Amino acid sequence: VIFRKSFAGMNLYTVLLFLHSCCRWLVLGGLIYAIYRGLRGGPVFTKTDDRARHITATLAHVQLCIGYILYFNSPLVTYFRAHFHEANFEALFFGLIHISLMTISVVLISVGSSLAKRQEADKAKFLTMTTFYFLALLIIFIAIPWPFSPLAHRPLLRTF
Ligand code: HEM
Repeated sequence: VIFRKSFAGMNLYTVLLFLHSCCRWLVLGGLIYAIYRGLRGGPVFTKTDDRARHITATLAHVQLCIGYILYFNSPLVTYFRAHFHEANFEALFFGLIHISLMTISVVLISVGSSLAKRQEADKAKFLTMTTFYFLALLIIFIAIPWPFSPLAHRPLLRTF
């Protein structure tokens, strides 16, 4: 059982943390590329633009799922939920601030993506996608625990 639960020092928590750390770069890359396509602004909303819109929204949802599973497997969050009256700021950040801001951003991406898809005019598609994705990118940038963030610090890539 010990072997199954912890193979070469890896357990569900560390695997999720690693995936969540990597996937952040995919989400950021997708958003920046989609916003770049949006700012170029066509004039025709091509298949490539639509792919950028769709793949970015998918990546954001994958990261959201990993995040929620991580949330219920993180010792830090478990500590926060048991002691939230006396928790330190780092526990509060991951237990409440990070999850709230990130959930809001992924909702913005979802709404922006489906509204853009349903617009008639290509110009409106670009404008909708760019606006929602830019807002989401801003919030995500603030809520990522960058090594230089004033809120919480984590590595640029999790290597343990
Ligand atoms: C676009 C969305 C998100 C991005 C870009 C993002 C990014 C990150 C990054 C870079 C870390 C640090 C990873 C590390 O320690 O190596 C992290 C940690 C974490 N994230 Fe997210 N995250 C997102 C959404 C979420 C959501 C929605 C949740 C919860 C529902 C969540 C829960 C957590 C937890 C629990 C931790 C780690 C706490 C610990 O150290 O145990 N994340 N996130």
